[in-house]
Amino acid sequence: KDGSTGMEKVVLREPGGATAQVHLYGGHVTSWKNEKGEELLFLSSKAIFKPPKAIRGGIPICFPQFGTFGSLEQHGFARNRFWVIDPNPPPPPPALTGGNNGNGTSSNNNSSSKQQPFVDLILKHGEDEHKIWPHSFELCLRVVLGLGGDLTLITRVRNTDSKNFTFTFALHTYLSVSDVSEVRIEGLETLDYLDNLKDRERFTEQGNAITFDAEVDRIYVGTPTKIAIIDHEKKRTFVLKKEGLPDAVVWNPWEKKARAMVDFGDEEYKHMLCVEAAAVEKPITLKPGEEWRGRQELSAVPSSYFSGQ
Ligand code: BG6
Repeated sequence: KDGSTGMEKVVLREPGGATAQVHLYGGHVTSWKNEKGEELLFLSSKAIFKPPKAIRGGIPICFPQFGTFGSLEQHGFARNRFWVIDPNPPPPPPALTGGNNGNGTSSNNNSSSKQQPFVDLILKHGEDEHKIWPHSFELCLRVVLGLGGDLTLITRVRNTDSKNFTFTFALHTYLSVSDVSEVRIEGLETLDYLDNLKDRERFTEQGNAITFDAEVDRIYVGTPTKIAIIDHEKKRTFVLKKEGLPDAVVWNPWEKKARAMVDFGDEEYKHMLCVEAAAVEKPITLKPGEEWRGRQELSAVPSSYFSGQ
């Protein structure tokens, strides 16, 4: 923690050298570095770490509304509120015992169990939120840095009210890429998407893998649980695995929109791509006492790890 408002953060380190950083402002993951110290998330050089704006980059949390799918401010309010460290967190993630760490790289075969670094944050409704969205809720975020450097976000929403409520949700993940025009996404081909640039009209993806040469703002609906983002220049593949979040948003503002954003450098669009695990097309309804859980796991592996790349 560094103590100052908006800048207060938690740093996770795993023994191999990977790190992650979570700001309490927004419950926002702002950095994820591999064991070589390479940053894997995009964070704008112009990011502002205080209300009313969300931090530009990292992983903002869109709740209780994704985008403009409702009457609230764009992407809801969770991303521009101060979260707290959960005083009563659920049990820690299971300790790992040696062997394969799940991302294809080998870890040492030490049979003693090791704890993965993690933190639990919570956002409760306050009077302010209640005025905007009149429901009692608890929103929790667990960030786990796996041994081997995978980054897992587990989110839980609990209805602490006496009536049902409905929300949409996204983990608005800004990936750092060398040059977006050299990137392709696999796992979304032939799916339907809602095009935010065309009044959310529904289209079916025709191409093979998805590549980028202009502004993109799409919600792919009902996607597979695994999506690969392949950065040819860096020879790096991000693998995004998700549960409870059936949709995937893909966004790059491209040149013109980049210039219009005050908290985003004019050329920065070349070095980022948002791929967001989301629940948008079918909003989630919780009865009193019910809880919903969503999970997104990111790993970054050398592209050569996959055959044919
Ligand atoms: C994306 C949306 O998820 O977020 C876009 O699909 C939006 O429509 C983008 O422009 C950024 O939103 P904001 O509010 O952070 O500027």
